[in-house]
Amino acid sequence: MDGRDLVRSVKAVGSAGAAQGLRTVRAAWRRRRADAAGLPPRGTERARVPGPVRDVRPGAGGGVVRFARAELRIVVAVNGAVFWGWDGAGPEPSYALSGRCPEPDPRTRLEPDKDGGWRVVAERVTVVVSRHGSVEVLTPGGVSLRRELPPRWWEPVGGGPSRWTQRSEVAADARFFGLGGRASGLRLRDGTYRLWNTDPGRAFGPGDDPLYITMPVQLVVADAATHLVFQDTSWDGTVTLREGEEGAGSGHDRAGMCELRMDGGPLRCWMIVGTPARVLHTWAVLTGVPALPPSWALGHHHARWGFGDEQEVRRIVAGYREHGLPLDAVHLDIDHFDGHQVFTVDQDRFPKLPALAEELRRDGIRLVSIVDPAVKAEPGNAVYDGGSAEDAFVRDASGQVVRGVVWPGESVFPDFTHARVRAWWGRLYEERLGQGFAGFWHDMNEPTSFAAFGESTLPRSAGHALEGRGGDHREAHNVYALCMARAAYEGLCELAPEERPFIFSRSGWAGMQRYGGTWSGDVATGWPGLRASLSLVMGLGLSGVPYSGPDVGGFDGSPSPELYLRWFQLGAWLPLFRTHASLRAGRREPWEFGADVLEHARVALVERRRLLPYFMTLAHLARRTGAPYVRPLWWGAPEERALRDCEDAFLLGDCLLVAPVLDPGADRRAVQLPRGRWYDTVTEQAYEGPGQVLIDAPLSRIPVLARAGAVVPVRGDDGGLVLEVWAPALGRTGGGLVVPDEGDGWEEADIERYVTRWEGRRVVVELYGEDGVSEPSRPVRVRGLDGY
Ligand code: NOJ
Repeated sequence: MDGRDLVRSVKAVGSAGAAQGLRTVRAAWRRRRADAAGLPPRGTERARVPGPVRDVRPGAGGGVVRFARAELRIVVAVNGAVFWGWDGAGPEPSYALSGRCPEPDPRTRLEPDKDGGWRVVAERVTVVVSRHGSVEVLTPGGVSLRRELPPRWWEPVGGGPSRWTQRSEVAADARFFGLGGRASGLRLRDGTYRLWNTDPGRAFGPGDDPLYITMPVQLVVADAATHLVFQDTSWDGTVTLREGEEGAGSGHDRAGMCELRMDGGPLRCWMIVGTPARVLHTWAVLTGVPALPPSWALGHHHARWGFGDEQEVRRIVAGYREHGLPLDAVHLDIDHFDGHQVFTVDQDRFPKLPALAEELRRDGIRLVSIVDPAVKAEPGNAVYDGGSAEDAFVRDASGQVVRGVVWPGESVFPDFTHARVRAWWGRLYEERLGQGFAGFWHDMNEPTSFAAFGESTLPRSAGHALEGRGGDHREAHNVYALCMARAAYEGLCELAPEERPFIFSRSGWAGMQRYGGTWSGDVATGWPGLRASLSLVMGLGLSGVPYSGPDVGGFDGSPSPELYLRWFQLGAWLPLFRTHASLRAGRREPWEFGADVLEHARVALVERRRLLPYFMTLAHLARRTGAPYVRPLWWGAPEERALRDCEDAFLLGDCLLVAPVLDPGADRRAVQLPRGRWYDTVTEQAYEGPGQVLIDAPLSRIPVLARAGAVVPVRGDDGGLVLEVWAPALGRTGGGLVVPDEGDGWEEADIERYVTRWEGRRVVVELYGEDGVSEPSRPVRVRGLDGY
């Protein structure tokens, strides 16, 4: 223990309650000892590069190129995605992929290239392999999108996993996005981003990295095309990014650069090229379509760490009712557990939970339960006893069950990388369903284990089944939460087959959208935290996880009324709209901030409820196309460079543009508009894009614009679905898709396709069905007609 560790230990003991503090000191020591014994030092390493090319073996969709000291396999799949793997790495097994790997494209040709290299020519891309092992992906027209230099490995002489680096170049105009949930900005600036799911241990702001969800998924937008690249390895590593620079016509452009450094794992990669929509669609085909939330999950949720008891829950719900504020879900945090033990209920404070759940459900409000993976290590605790009998818990290299520390004290951790353990865990949700819960909030699943010093997670040497392959926490850490979500999802599908599961999880990895969504985690209360909330939601959407949202108001402290309101107004336009805060934080109910805030928050809530059919449509479209609900402004126009740098506004589906207020004291804001005509949805004033306009943003609202021609499904006064149509620009047409669904089951809803156009001086809306064009059977309300 060095001096710093000692100071942290003393602080831990002092701050977290003496007993818990001491546990975290002991746990940190145990962790350190386990790794010292279980992970041999790396010792001498030998560096390796592929060396010169030797020969090739054509194969389905591409082939294998052999070098003096490595071999490279390239396969172009029928959906256009390109896979390449070094040293025999194939696409499977993979935690990211959703099922069977797509078939190779038989039309692909492997041909000799200049200077002894080879190229794989496919319909949408050409992959050129140089004779020293660089891999370049070009458009069919020959424009380079990404060039990976020959990789370099460091192999321990005594055996063990090799570290490796992979450096790539992208166009000088390219911008980087994605990498999971990053707080620093939608656009990933120059810097190093770690790939290791991490609980920051306190409320975080834009400067904190990494956070709970990291994934090696980059979306790169450049003039020539957009591409997504996924390095399919779950090991710890870093991605260093440097944007390029254009030489203003001097011909001296500096390419953008990306360098991946990994501690181990296969060197294999997927790349998808196309428009943003196409790329995300193929990504969803590869890694699985986003789970469809039940319709109630698109409404407003109110959570709180520390509701206290059933009466407090009733008081909050009554407050919503009395103030005329719609509410769809209430979340119970760890304080409703008995001694913080997962799958239990504190019977003193929540004696009649099923009755409370029933009472709320009659008012259309669902109960959502937190679920932590850590199980209190105490005989007599049924989950511990059951898990022990099942041999479910992670063991260290010497075969001892690993003990960590989480809220209930000394705890053990299920090994979710084992199918048998997932099945056991999945069945535990029966207890939750019996209590009346309708949704599940997975927390602390990076996994977090409090430690007075060192990393707050399991020892890296801890063993995991990894589906029978066997391995340790270095490989399993980043997929732990993904596997936990799978356990819950599959369990719930068996336990409640009529309902689609609602799960959102703090941590996760590529493919987590198959099981549900996520939320910001403990975003710090403050204006920077508000901005970080939006970065996270957008970055996650571009990484394939479309359903998320922040803790409205921030997790800690007390927001000013203005900050709370601006956060509320942003949250109302994000997929997960949830107020939540820490045990020690100030109140978050809309009526706690004065009459003006209450009034403006009500407007946001009522508008959210009115727009539920639109949110539901976006959820269905996300499932069918992989397109996130919340999209950057460049989504439909990646070639419009000015839009690539815009991080403070977003498109909500195809129809709306939302420009939240992210700074204090604002009463108007500049809004960057993509091409076309846009209407302010409140004043109906029309604006022409592309360009920047100044729009009023008084405390009562944030600017929301509708695209000319859009068809937005909204809830009418009688609860029925109404088509809100925004007049197309003169001489133009418009349209939109509507997927009506108010339920929480599996029945497949039909897509309604509408087209809008001018007929003389009238805007008409037509339904395009299989049997031809007809008049919509739904009421239509045309807006934006002033000025025509
Ligand atoms: C950490 C989570 O991020 C937070 O949302 C939750 O309230 C606490 N854990 C307590 O469960």
